Amino acid sequence: MSTLKKVGVLTSGGDAPGMNACIRAVTRAAIYNGLQVFGIRYGFQGLIQGDIHQLFANSVSNIIQLGGTILKSARSAEFTTPEGRQKAYEQLQKAGIQALVVIGGDGSYRGAHEFITAYPDIQVIGLPGTIDNDLGGTDATIGFDTAINTAMRAIDNIRDTADAFNRLFFVEVMGRDSGFIALHVGLSSGAEAILVPEEKTNLEALIEILDTGWKRHKTSSIIVVAEGDDAGGAFEVAAKVKQRFSHYETKVAILGHIQRGGSPTCQDRVLATRLGAAAIESLLQGKTGIALGICHHQIRETELLAAAQTRESINPSLLRLVDILSV
Ligand code: F6P
Repeated sequence: MSTLKKVGVLTSGGDAPGMNACIRAVTRAAIYNGLQVFGIRYGFQGLIQGDIHQLFANSVSNIIQLGGTILKSARSAEFTTPEGRQKAYEQLQKAGIQALVVIGGDGSYRGAHEFITAYPDIQVIGLPGTIDNDLGGTDATIGFDTAINTAMRAIDNIRDTADAFNRLFFVEVMGRDSGFIALHVGLSSGAEAILVPEEKTNLEALIEILDTGWKRHKTSSIIVVAEGDDAGGAFEVAAKVKQRFSHYETKVAILGHIQRGGSPTCQDRVLATRLGAAAIESLLQGKTGIALGICHHQIRETELLAAAQTRESINPSLLRLVDILSV
């Protein structure tokens, strides 16, 4: 019989579509199990400041379809210090909160890990909320599917106008350290090339691909560039290519935070809902220090730090596929 009575939930780091669906599931599953739930606004920073409010079933009505996060988010430098974490602990003690569900990315998982190392009496479960898909222990993170669909549709639009003017477009997508968004968006939009942080960019090879396309009278070309690519962002890569390939009219589009917003896809809502409910189940079973994910349709538990440190690597054969298909 669990002695758990009060659970807190927060969203931290870059927001991701589906976080609201996850907050809803955590809240409703907790209430269903007789627990009290508290929403902590502005992530760990809000926790330090005691920005804590009880949530009821109707506090999370009508949010499943909304992007962003009703709990707001933040990146807290203070929480990376022992003093900051102590303040956070004191706030939890004051509110009587015994367990936390942290929805966020690798930085949030690391923070949560540090926190329970110092304060093991607080149970913590991490849920993967980031558009980057760069966490271990899950096939997909909450928000990834929505982000790639948003970016894919944007590139479909760009393709229309690129074709009308025979232009070469460099489209930058998010992913400071990870090329998952670029890879999926590039594959699904028929990009001529995809540049990702995980692979050294070969400008000569890129120019060869463009040259082949030019010779066979391609009317548009799209190069998807992850923001963290080693050759620089889309502007930088476009300038380098332009020097060598002046006959093509080049344009740059930075998709930026458009990819972070918007109504979550069905896939993200289901993922968020399953994980939110599973987090409460895990807490009731006395579990702590783990991140939950879904692998091959099954809920999977991974130690928080391992989930932050180990992510699936980009499948090189998928990058090769782009070369094959853009001949
Ligand atoms: O981690 C999610 C993410 O969207 C990255 O893809 C991107 O590099 C970063 O956040 C942008 O952060 P900010 O919103 O603080 O500019």
